Amino acid sequence: MTEREKTKAQYILKLLGRKRNPIYTVSSATSLNSAASKATASDFEDISDLENIMLESAFNPEFHFNPIDPPIKDGYKSQTTISQEETELSILETYIKNPELILNTPRHLQFVMEALYGTFPGLYPLDANHPWMVYWLINSFKLFTGDERLDQDTIELVNEKISHCIVDDGKGGIAGGANQLGHIASTYAGILSLVDVGNYRLLNKLRRNLYGWFMSLKLPNGSFAVHENGESDVRSCYCVLVIGSLLNILTPELTDGIQDYLDLCQTYEGGFAGVPNTEAHGGYSFCALASYFILNNDVEKIKKSIHLDSLIEWTTQRQGSIEGGLSGRTNKLVDACYSFWIGALFPMLEVLTDSKELFDRDGLYHYILRVAQESKNGGFRDKPGKSVDFYHTNYSLCGLSVCEHLIKLKDDYANDDVPLAYKLDAAIPHKDDIHKFPQLFNVDKYTVPINPIFGIPVEAVDACRDHFIKLDSE
Ligand code: FPP
Ligand code: ZN
Repeated sequence: MTEREKTKAQYILKLLGRKRNPIYTVSSATSLNSAASKATASDFEDISDLENIMLESAFNPEFHFNPIDPPIKDGYKSQTTISQEETELSILETYIKNPELILNTPRHLQFVMEALYGTFPGLYPLDANHPWMVYWLINSFKLFTGDERLDQDTIELVNEKISHCIVDDGKGGIAGGANQLGHIASTYAGILSLVDVGNYRLLNKLRRNLYGWFMSLKLPNGSFAVHENGESDVRSCYCVLVIGSLLNILTPELTDGIQDYLDLCQTYEGGFAGVPNTEAHGGYSFCALASYFILNNDVEKIKKSIHLDSLIEWTTQRQGSIEGGLSGRTNKLVDACYSFWIGALFPMLEVLTDSKELFDRDGLYHYILRVAQESKNGGFRDKPGKSVDFYHTNYSLCGLSVCEHLIKLKDDYANDDVPLAYKLDAAIPHKDDIHKFPQLFNVDKYTVPINPIFGIPVEAVDACRDHFIKLDSE
């Protein structure tokens, strides 16, 4: 028996040991590698029929992703390694409990729309996150349906909820709640919500005022304070770039020095930190790489600015071999929200390297549908043991979209002034890839394609950009 098979066996035994006492023995004649991938009644003694069915489904040989591939183990025991092992076990248990690869779309739609039409929480900390909640909910809705079911009531509801938070027609940005100070992050969430529902009239009213506000927050190092006297980091740079480019108000004065600032934030690990000389993190790495895609019109220019090989290495190491899902930083746990923050880095890196597959799509797909999804009552959660919330629901669905659609540079990609961020589109996969991830070939996908730079549907990004470019050229 190889070391790999032994590790695999230990995991199965440990898992079953937690479920029952005494620990079941794996029949010694069987190769544990195949016990792991086929695990059926004959491999274990005295297991009830129900558990047999669950085991068979959890290790369904038709699935490409095998959640019990052995992990790379750290010999040194610490709180970190202990919680990693506990998390792996609880995820394996969840895989066994949830054998189906099915999204309960109607239940999630109900969860999202009831919340959007309901009263938002007024208590700390959610009282300062109202535009965020609108964005997570309306974007989740759009990921399922595109524009098909977006009705006038919903458009007006989003308009009303965001309008409560707008400060002085945008001269003070958009705040997290009524009568609060404008903040760049809640402005980003509010603007994306209006873009999702196509409220260009209101966006047009705000955009020049927002420009003045952004310039007032610009710092000598190229970044932006998140509000008057607030902190600054790659998040604020990304938010300004997203809003500025979608609303066609990006000027050289606004972008001045941003790329130099981003360059300082790539760390020795390869990922990006929020501010120079701190730890690489998925959220900030997303903001940084997406910013390069808005600032540059050419792949080669980005490659000159960043250390691509180490970013690829760090990003690919975020996927857990047992979990299938993604973590946000070295030695931390898998979490469904990184299905987007890290997940969206893969299509960007695939575009930069012209490579096909930098992550195990199937593994992430399984984590989202079988571990993060709460199919009975709707919504998605970080990991087993956590409750569902709007944040994890939106970013799990964005991750699902990343899994379901291949993103490529548009065919008419040319070396013009258009930022790379707008040259991305969903592509038809090559027939040879069908074995790796058959869902790419499904005609009926669960989600619409998102633009990985913005986290909203490709169609919403293109419509908004086209609207303001056209308006400004009239
Ligand atoms: C660590 O949380 C989280 C951070 C250090 C920041 C994360 C940043 C983002 C998610 C990006 C935000 C982007 C915009 C556009 C506003 P933790 O320590 O609880 O989680 P961890 O253990 O997974 O690192
Ligand atoms: Zn999370």
